[in-house]
Amino acid sequence: MSYLEWNPSLTTGVEMIDDQHKMLFKLINDLHDAATADDEDPDIVTDAMYTLSDYVAEHFGDEEALMAEHGYAGLPAHHDMHQRLTAQTLHLMTQFVNGEPVSLAELAEFLGNWLQGHIVEQDCRFAATLNG
Ligand SMILES: [Fe+2]
Repeated sequence: MSYLEWNPSLTTGVEMIDDQHKMLFKLINDLHDAATADDEDPDIVTDAMYTLSDYVAEHFGDEEALMAEHGYAGLPAHHDMHQRLTAQTLHLMTQFVNGEPVSLAELAEFLGNWLQGHIVEQDCRFAATLNG
């Protein structure tokens, strides 16, 4: 079973955002799987980490562009949340790359928890302004 399971309460109703969130779930699961595999391969784990962090950056950019396009008043606060998450993630990745004992399975879990809360509390709030 995958670490993260998609469920309908995470649906914002904005197709681009929902598709990207589903892809984020997949990439978080890929990282979690790679980091917890019995025959853990450092190259695969590192690749999964970079693939996920690149996609997070792309997703945040696309989501904020959509918010800007629609004049969403909550954009500055939302941008700050994305920035804080990005800074925390980069900090952990830098520690990992420097050989410090950072668990990428824990990074995947941290991102998974953050994303679920963020989708329900923040992204759905924006989506409601479009769907309403
Ligand atoms: Fe967001």
